[in-house]
Amino acid sequence: MKKNKLVVIGSFVVDLAAMTPKLPRRGETIFGGPFSMGPGGKGSNQCIAAKRAGADVIFLTKLGRDRFAEVALEAYEKEGIDTSCVFQDETLETGSALIMVEQLTGENAIVVSPGACNAIKLTEVDRIKPAMAEAKALLTQFEINMDAVWHALQLAKAQGLLTIVNPAPVQQVSNDIFSLIDVITPNETEAEALTGIPVTNRESAGKAADILLARGVKHILITLGEKGVYYQNAQYHQEIPGYAVQKVIDTTGAGDAFNGGFATAITEGKDMEAAIRFGNVAGALSVTKNGTAPAMPYRTEIEAFMKVGE
Ligand code: RIB
Repeated sequence: MKKNKLVVIGSFVVDLAAMTPKLPRRGETIFGGPFSMGPGGKGSNQCIAAKRAGADVIFLTKLGRDRFAEVALEAYEKEGIDTSCVFQDETLETGSALIMVEQLTGENAIVVSPGACNAIKLTEVDRIKPAMAEAKALLTQFEINMDAVWHALQLAKAQGLLTIVNPAPVQQVSNDIFSLIDVITPNETEAEALTGIPVTNRESAGKAADILLARGVKHILITLGEKGVYYQNAQYHQEIPGYAVQKVIDTTGAGDAFNGGFATAITEGKDMEAAIRFGNVAGALSVTKNGTAPAMPYRTEIEAFMKVGE
């Protein structure tokens, strides 16, 4: 059987995003710029990024039965994503995220209310087992209930999948989880929260990576924004540079674009360095557009960008 599918398990929330001249201070009300509403959530964004980058993907999440759920279902129909493991709760609301994007820098602040996707049952996670039998990798994050993340990782390991974890939003987790993770992709802040080491340069990234390796993770990818990725495994470490773009519009979801692109390249059999470069291009292209899921680049765009850089 061909094992090249990518299983993504994670959050869906509706993003409610306002552009703003600056992030407001505590207690302050300010006028914002344009507002947009659309599909978001780290899991869903990473799934859409992977699909657009060319992966054969299946997504597991949970929605409510409300107008926000329609936003998800419409997006998955448009993108051609398998929804056989997209569950709907009759009482809980679909999640939402309040996002402010600073116009000058494209930087953001986010409050996410996960709603139904924070109540995924383990029996629902079990429903992804047949897809796992055809899959090469599992990609998940920390934006759903953690017992579902644990269960998904255990099932994936039992079926021999490569497990890729984007530990965002970062949470304190028991050290036992790390032996279930083959590849971890924290940014600097998340690496610090997981290890206690403030990541400010190559040396500190190496120290944080050493801790994660000692806990049992095999491949550490610390994402450094436009600077690229610090990669370390038990044998060696390497810095893989990012790509500059002419104009940064919105950095929200850039990490998701990276993770979706990286996981796609891994399921295609690319080696770590090539997969990280592919993810870096996806991340760079995503910041040139507004929004999260709508900003995920298509395979043709990624390949065209890579050709220019050759
Ligand atoms: O990574 C960006 C995402 O984080 C947004 O789409 C928002 O929904 C939050 O979950």
